[in-house]
Amino acid sequence: MNAFKRHTVTAALPYANGPVHIGHLAGCYLPADIYVRYLKARGRDVVFICGSDEHGVPITIRARKEGITPQQVVDKYHFLMKESFEKFGIAFSIYSRTSSEVHHKTASDFFKKLYDKGVFDESVTEQYYDEKAQQFLADRYITGTCPNCQNPNAYGDQCERCGTSLSPTDLINPVSALSGEKPVLRETKNWFLPLDKLQPKIEAYINKHSDWKPNVFGQCQSWLKQGLHPRAMTRDLDWGVKVPLKDAENKVLYVWFDAPIGYISATKELTKDWEKYWKDKETRLIHFIGKDNIVFHCIIFPAMLMSDGEYILPDNVPANEFLNLEGQKISTSRNWAVWLH
Ligand code: MF3
Ligand code: ZN
Repeated sequence: MNAFKRHTVTAALPYANGPVHIGHLAGCYLPADIYVRYLKARGRDVVFICGSDEHGVPITIRARKEGITPQQVVDKYHFLMKESFEKFGIAFSIYSRTSSEVHHKTASDFFKKLYDKGVFDESVTEQYYDEKAQQFLADRYITGTCPNCQNPNAYGDQCERCGTSLSPTDLINPVSALSGEKPVLRETKNWFLPLDKLQPKIEAYINKHSDWKPNVFGQCQSWLKQGLHPRAMTRDLDWGVKVPLKDAENKVLYVWFDAPIGYISATKELTKDWEKYWKDKETRLIHFIGKDNIVFHCIIFPAMLMSDGEYILPDNVPANEFLNLEGQKISTSRNWAVWLH
């Protein structure tokens, strides 16, 4: 470890659609904070990066439910979370947000560079479209009957009754959550990160890190074993970072493309010297995350960084496990839990 001159430590950017709870703190932010304090006590050069993740479909759903704009949703929770972290004494070097101008530009430029390098596969797929609301529907905006358990209120990505993961076209009698109408399939173009082609490089990278926590390393191995598939990095949605291409109106970057870039934008906001924290091989990059974020930090984000070519890759990705208190999970959200170990 002593070979590293400096550390970039990140803690998962929490979604700005709910307050921070004890599971978030104990699972991710507290361990990261302790580790950073330890590094500082040893006189190491370290930046500790976090901020709010303000894009993605759940935020638009919450806004619609509450009759407010997505911007109002994220404004409310961004400041609430920022304050909670301060009150708990979590000492981030910066707590930023992905709606910032710096972030929009950084994420947009990152995408454009990969596009110009010919990294993406462009491909046309059929997606459900709501003719009344005149927009494409995110998986969560489509409900219907689960083909597995007949639950009439299953979502286009998952049935919450039987837990089966679904794609919208699996649903029997699909209905748009926007208008209540039956959606139609319509062709749309999106840009895909060819994880299948990148697999050998990703595999070589993961295999160098058999020292990662067993849950993290094991999950990576199982993804690799199943074989990686191209994944769309753009979405037909109007909330997020606009896709910086001419033929991409009404499209934004996939939230899992822009959010980890938030770590980079926040570092930029923090210091003019940001590049040494992201591009110098003598920097150790460590992501503290929740357990459901493993594939994004260990496979997809590294694939993005290696496709760019200038960045260092995560050297460790500590992810928490569930903690049971008196036999009950104390996490209030599926995404987060408590670190036990
Ligand atoms: N918002 C995500 C969650 O709460 C975490 C995002 S981490 C980042 O599960 F890398 F994307 F920033
Ligand atoms: Zn079901």
